[in-house]
Amino acid sequence: YYGAVINPVSLTSLKALPRCLLAVASTGNIDWIVEDVEDSMVQETMAAHGYIDVDVVCLREGEFLMPGFFDTHTHAPQVPNMGSGQQYELLDWLENITFPMESRFSDPEYARSTYPSVVRRIIDSGTTTCCYFGTIHLEATKILAEIVHESGQRAFVGKCNMNQNSPAHYIEPSADASISATKTLFSHIKQLPPHPHSAEPLVQPILTPRFAITCTSALLKSLGELAASDPNLRIQTHVSENPDEPSKIAFTMSLFPECSSYTGVYETYGILRENTILAHGVHLNDEELALIAKRRAGISHCPTSNFNLNSGVAPIGLYLDRGIKVALGTDVSGGYSPSILNAIQNASIASKVIAMRHRGEAAAPGAFSNRQLSVASLLYLSTLGGAELCNVEKSVGSFSTGMSFDALVVSVRNDAGNPAMWGSDSAPRDLAGMLEQFFFTGDDRNISRVYVQGKLIGGTVFTR
Ligand code: GUN
Ligand code: FE
Repeated sequence: YYGAVINPVSLTSLKALPRCLLAVASTGNIDWIVEDVEDSMVQETMAAHGYIDVDVVCLREGEFLMPGFFDTHTHAPQVPNMGSGQQYELLDWLENITFPMESRFSDPEYARSTYPSVVRRIIDSGTTTCCYFGTIHLEATKILAEIVHESGQRAFVGKCNMNQNSPAHYIEPSADASISATKTLFSHIKQLPPHPHSAEPLVQPILTPRFAITCTSALLKSLGELAASDPNLRIQTHVSENPDEPSKIAFTMSLFPECSSYTGVYETYGILRENTILAHGVHLNDEELALIAKRRAGISHCPTSNFNLNSGVAPIGLYLDRGIKVALGTDVSGGYSPSILNAIQNASIASKVIAMRHRGEAAAPGAFSNRQLSVASLLYLSTLGGAELCNVEKSVGSFSTGMSFDALVVSVRNDAGNPAMWGSDSAPRDLAGMLEQFFFTGDDRNISRVYVQGKLIGGTVFTR
């Protein structure tokens, strides 16, 4: 690939490279990158790397490459509900909207007819790695994993564990049944056939206790033992999401009197560790932040959902200052959009809401607390930060030699269907400015190609 490349570096910096030459090997890994190459030097540079008679994809003016997005928290079975029931807050929304929808996936045929378009929509939104909550159903979640696998997306797929405080139509019969279905799902996912284009499996299982309230201590204990048997197993759950959490926390504490906080429940049962993804974390206390930082667990920031369900504004800047890993999640259908672009926009607004509350206060130099997030931070939280949450930052989330080519070709040209910048397509454009306009005004019409492990799997030019 020759042309404009955006590469995240840290929470405060990104590389905008207008004339980059990036080589992808047949393994789907990045073979080498030369960051600044004149037009006239492209063939010579390739030859110097032993690339003779190799095709070059030349990006046009108004197009750039960037790493694919990470959605670190979403619910595949809730996609059909996007945009409904927004009059509710969390607990009423779960009871009236969410659990009835998820319950329909007891029918594997419903899963088979619904999940393909769900996964397609998420891929075409630019998500190359996705952390999926399924339902409590083994068969439907196997089907979800198979569909994700066939699509070529990189993903973590989990089956919800729920054996208490759930409606009669949507609850697992016992802790043992929940654990045994979880283990069966894990072996099923591990036995999916290898991809011809990927040495490593792209779909991996993830332990998914829905949240403390829906799991008995016996179930959490067994989930902790399962986690201990495999230190590489990722874990995802919800924590401290909604303002009615004080009463919910009181309820949680009455269920788990042996624990000192909501986060403490996960700590007590051995499911708070470096590969645990905690969704929301809007109302965490100091002690919980210290615990999360100590365990190196991460927060999936889901600002669209946090606004939409009236949950609150998570102080992400503070979490970053505390050294906690943070990335973005869509939390469909608490969030009404499957696109990480929408999460980026709302993460920016959420940070500005907090900054407004602290207008005029002096902030420590270099601190993120009470300040708005920069474009570099938003890029980081949607790519490399996601890779850190999933503990895959050595292989995906940014571009460097030896890493997997999980990438988007973004177009803000007039012919993209959604020109993010008006004017002549042949005039040179400021690359960092194009990224910012894509973030704030772009949508899936601007995502022309989606690659995972070097393979084209989606985008507007992808023919199904
Ligand atoms: N807490 C428990 N389940 C859910 C869910 O499905 N969505 C959200 N946003 N919060 C939850
Ligand atoms: Fe959620």
